[in-house]
Amino acid sequence: MVCESSNKSYLKSQHLKIIGQNTLRGKVRISGAKNSALVLLAASLLTDEKITLDNVPLLTDIEKMGNILKNLGVKLHNKDHQLIIDSKNISVQELPYELVNGLRASFFCIGALLTRFGEASIPLPGGCNIGERPINEHINGLRALGAEVIIDRDVVKAKLVEKKSKLFGANIRLNCPSVGATETLIMAASLAEGRTVIKNAAREPEIQDLCQMLNKMGAKIYDSGKEKIIIDGVPKLHGCTHKVIPDRIEAGTFLIAAAATSSSITVSPIIPNHLEAVLNKLEESGSKIIIKGNSISIKSNKIKAVDIKTAPFPGFPTDLQAPFMALMSIAKGRSKITETIFENRMTHVNFLNQMGASITVDNNTANITGVNKLKGMNLVGSDLRSSAALIIVALTSRNTSYVYGLHHLDRGYESFETKLVKLGARVKREYIVDSRDQIKNFATGNSDIDLNVA
Ligand code: UD1
Repeated sequence: MVCESSNKSYLKSQHLKIIGQNTLRGKVRISGAKNSALVLLAASLLTDEKITLDNVPLLTDIEKMGNILKNLGVKLHNKDHQLIIDSKNISVQELPYELVNGLRASFFCIGALLTRFGEASIPLPGGCNIGERPINEHINGLRALGAEVIIDRDVVKAKLVEKKSKLFGANIRLNCPSVGATETLIMAASLAEGRTVIKNAAREPEIQDLCQMLNKMGAKIYDSGKEKIIIDGVPKLHGCTHKVIPDRIEAGTFLIAAAATSSSITVSPIIPNHLEAVLNKLEESGSKIIIKGNSISIKSNKIKAVDIKTAPFPGFPTDLQAPFMALMSIAKGRSKITETIFENRMTHVNFLNQMGASITVDNNTANITGVNKLKGMNLVGSDLRSSAALIIVALTSRNTSYVYGLHHLDRGYESFETKLVKLGARVKREYIVDSRDQIKNFATGNSDIDLNVA
């Protein structure tokens, strides 16, 4: 169940046991997009009317964001994958560090709070351990809209300049097409006075989802999904019902897992053009892709090496770089994977090499010589997507692997191992349940422990 705090100490004492070399077969139901749901929760702060969000994924990141909203006084009612958000009685106060710690998207509330209430204080958030993750684009943009922003002991404090009762539309050019900054500024501009133009805006589908919901709420946003977004501020936004788009990164992860295990699977629902760059690379590396409506099927056998370079949408997503490297580590031939978005997003290489892969890293480019098979071992995910990558290699490997650090995985993949088991994978979540460190096994999906997240 989402958004009800629970004792998460179990997260330290569980792992996945994976017996490799199985093929996968069948259909996977793709959950709502984590990165959409997170920003839509932030956007719900823009109105005092109720927002109903459907298709919300059950993830610890969403639970954390829910707790942040609750801390501000928001009332949340959740049932299955639906979340009703009532932001009528909010008291704007500094968010405690414990709540925002590790959740990058917590910072995205700043634009909504500032534009609706005239002030916001949010500690610097952190996030995945994948790089510096600065917030200068958010801050510069808010300043351009007329806010006073200071960073005081790692807390970002923003308020309207004296005697002003609103933000004012402005022309903003982002130095890099930051997803989060584009979202922060769209939210801030939606209740500002006059027109805002954001140039070099990010074009990710999650931004388009945000703009669609805001327009349902009465905002006037044009050209989302393009490099130049125009927002005409309105005095008030209203409640609405909105369905979160499917998670393209989750879908891509399953497709890559299928390719790595020489399998045939179908993922749905999904909006196929959200994954175009990934599907092109999967086809180039030898998989057959069939798109029918909102489903994508993949049929894979022998995989050949292909190069990839991550890029902002519609380029190859950085969030699928690690899973794709897992695939390339067992492909035939040599490939090059270049990470251009984050500077520290190759922590999986070390484990892949320990499993028998042949990868060298030069700056942010990995040079990979594919090997036939990797061997299973104890693995520790160090961030969300590298955890998925390690699970993919474990699925292909000789012997058994144990994957630790599941708190990363549970941030962003709903019922990951349950979905894999349905496809025929031999994966089990095991829990250490007593002080003598005895391991008690629970059949995946049949646990009587209330997981609260999956
Ligand atoms: C979002 C996604 C994350 C994804 C990333 C890139 C969420 C919750 N997370 O993260 O899954 O990997 O987009 O697609 O939606 N940058 C700056 N200054 C800023 C902001 C960003 O220099 O103020 C740089 C970052 O260091 C990075 C690049 O811009 O190199 C992209 O970051 P950004 O698009 O902002 O990522 P997030 O929004 O944090």
